[in-house]
Amino acid sequence: MPNKACVRAHTNIALIKYWGKRDETNFLPMNSSLSLTLDKLYTDTMVVFDEALPQDFFYLNGEQQGEKETQKISKFLDLFRAEKKTALRARVESINHVPTAAGLASSASAFAALAGAANLALGLDLDPQRLSTFARRGSGSATRSIYGGFVEWDMGTCSDDSFAVPVDDAGWDIGMVIVAVNQKAKEVSSRIGMKRTVETSPFYPAWVESAKKDILDIKAAIAAKDFIRLGEITEANGMKMHGTMLGAEPPFSYWEPDSIVAIKTAQALRKQGIPCYVTMDAGPNVKVLCRLSQAETIKAAFLEHFTEDKLIITKPGKGIRELTEAERAVY
Ligand code: ADP
Ligand code: DP6
Ligand code: CO
Repeated sequence: MPNKACVRAHTNIALIKYWGKRDETNFLPMNSSLSLTLDKLYTDTMVVFDEALPQDFFYLNGEQQGEKETQKISKFLDLFRAEKKTALRARVESINHVPTAAGLASSASAFAALAGAANLALGLDLDPQRLSTFARRGSGSATRSIYGGFVEWDMGTCSDDSFAVPVDDAGWDIGMVIVAVNQKAKEVSSRIGMKRTVETSPFYPAWVESAKKDILDIKAAIAAKDFIRLGEITEANGMKMHGTMLGAEPPFSYWEPDSIVAIKTAQALRKQGIPCYVTMDAGPNVKVLCRLSQAETIKAAFLEHFTEDKLIITKPGKGIRELTEAERAVY
């Protein structure tokens, strides 16, 4: 049995957001969500199960992590150990090619990569759908990173049927320009932010109702390859999610002044006849959904307000894959 595996998973940005759990233990969401997997941002994770290890070890970007982070990994690996009926401990080495905890979905690529690697290293042979239910229990957004292109996370009825479904490969001139306003780790994690919103924001029930309609509309727009409609629904959905946070107690917001500069820049581009639409997650960074063929033009407009290093153009990414020996050699 191979006890070692290395897997790459790409991050994904939700166009219809997941923002709130109906079951916190099992990571069951209040509504279905839909995302675009990104090519440029990803996590590579190696897992080695070894009978000589007295406990799990976790290294992120070459640094051994403390007890809290390692416990998170251990709890997640317990799901795989239970499935395999083994007590073997593991060494986990992960490299983020995405800023950690900055609202660029590191938790999505992280837990999809870890799930993929643990599955292979233990020889579990879980199919992608089942694997997505495992990834979900590390971080909700990781459910969707198993697949490439546009992916729906069906909210399901229970832990076994709340999984990701590939919708479309997004190979019809779809791209994203990321405006990395601030890559520092956020103060309020996604997990804490959504919990506070669910528990205290009077806007929350309206958000859930609205998101349920948005997911139907966006799937129709994707089926029709209607980019304008896709963008309009995306931008409106993200704004509604951020609105719920202003209604929370205490209120909070992930926006920074430069987030607004980026939003206004996209609006100005639209006035000039270049369709592009913004979405934001639990962080100040702005993601601009656009035609891939217009991404360079859009980037040029953003260069008037942001430096080159803050602007990342990406095409749609693919689903998880095992890394080859050569790719693995960097570890
Ligand atoms: P983000 O916007 O980056 O997804 P979150 O608050 O949702 O921010 O999640 C960040 C957390 O995800 C980190 O604090 C860490 O616990 C976990 N994480 C990020 N990258 C990795 C990784 N490569 N391996 C394991 N866990 C990770
Ligand atoms: C705003 O998946 O990071 O990015 O499930 O608690 O780990 P946990 O949270 P996470 O939340 C993502 C929130 C979001 C929207 C989205 O990705 O759908
Ligand atoms: Co996250």
